[in-house]
Amino acid sequence: MSQEFPQATARAHSNIAFIKYWGNIDDQLRLPANPSLSMNLANLYTETTVQWDTTLIRDTLTLNGEVASPKALQRVVTFLDELRQHTGIQGYAKISSVNNFPMGAGIASSASAFAALTLAAVTAAGLSLAERQLTTIARLGSGSASRSIPCGFVEWHTGNIHEDSYAESIAPPEYWEIADVIAIISDEHKAVVSHEGHETAHTSDLQAARVAGAHERLRVCKQAILDRDFGTFAEVVEHDSNLMHAVMMTSKPPLFYWHPATLTVMNCVRQWRQEGLEVCYTLDAGPNAHCICIRSAAEQVSQKLQTLSEVKEVRFSTPGGPAVIVEPTLDP
Ligand code: DP6
Repeated sequence: MSQEFPQATARAHSNIAFIKYWGNIDDQLRLPANPSLSMNLANLYTETTVQWDTTLIRDTLTLNGEVASPKALQRVVTFLDELRQHTGIQGYAKISSVNNFPMGAGIASSASAFAALTLAAVTAAGLSLAERQLTTIARLGSGSASRSIPCGFVEWHTGNIHEDSYAESIAPPEYWEIADVIAIISDEHKAVVSHEGHETAHTSDLQAARVAGAHERLRVCKQAILDRDFGTFAEVVEHDSNLMHAVMMTSKPPLFYWHPATLTVMNCVRQWRQEGLEVCYTLDAGPNAHCICIRSAAEQVSQKLQTLSEVKEVRFSTPGGPAVIVEPTLDP
């Protein structure tokens, strides 16, 4: 990238939701049907460099060093159009985005990608926005990206208008020594992307009940985090994940993200917890199982997962910080 145009690089972490976002009251603005709560993942992140280049006639995008597909570029251009509208930034951007984890590893990258893109784009334009506003802009790119802007453990409020649907930290990463040990069961790309799933969530008879109870589950989960009460945390996190997957399975058309091995891991995790290991599972829109555990149990959880033949690979992360401006460290 040439230096004469303003540029900035931002790093943002992926996150794992404990109370899930599934379904919107406004799909275009990504105003969620229910509040959600997540933890940033320190070891999984995206670094994105944005340069506002007045000689460009359109936005350009490379992902991990390769020219992005038309579909990926279109999603980013649509987002940048909204960002330009909300910030008054003019002109086109040259964007280079690199993940420190393989794209095909079955780990969602849209949260870290749109959070990093938001911070880099705004900073490169010389703007300094409040964190709350950054979270609302990132949300327009990917709902869960709003939660990758603040630090540590993060709550995303629903809101009825764009400005009120924002995310904020409830505790810094060092507040609770837990970890995410991710059992990779499949590295295939998702058959149905989250965006399409959000649009059909309302077709499930169970969605209204899931949404109605979400505020209370979030309250319980938040308090369990603040109290560092793993037993309460584990029960509500697994229950919330099961509810979301029940909605997915009963939507029209139904979405079955679990593989047989997913259920194997879920059953093992519950068994290990009964035996005294402080671990619970949560699943996103895919077959991989995030095994959340007390930090001191992570090695044991990882070893146990590796003995299961269905588990292809195990990844590990501690709680992560906020999106920040950095010097680039990742080679595409
Ligand atoms: C199952 O944020 O990926 O991971 O806004 O369409 O990009 P888009 O959806 P996305 O949805 C995340 C869904 C989830 C649950 C969660 O992270 O809360």
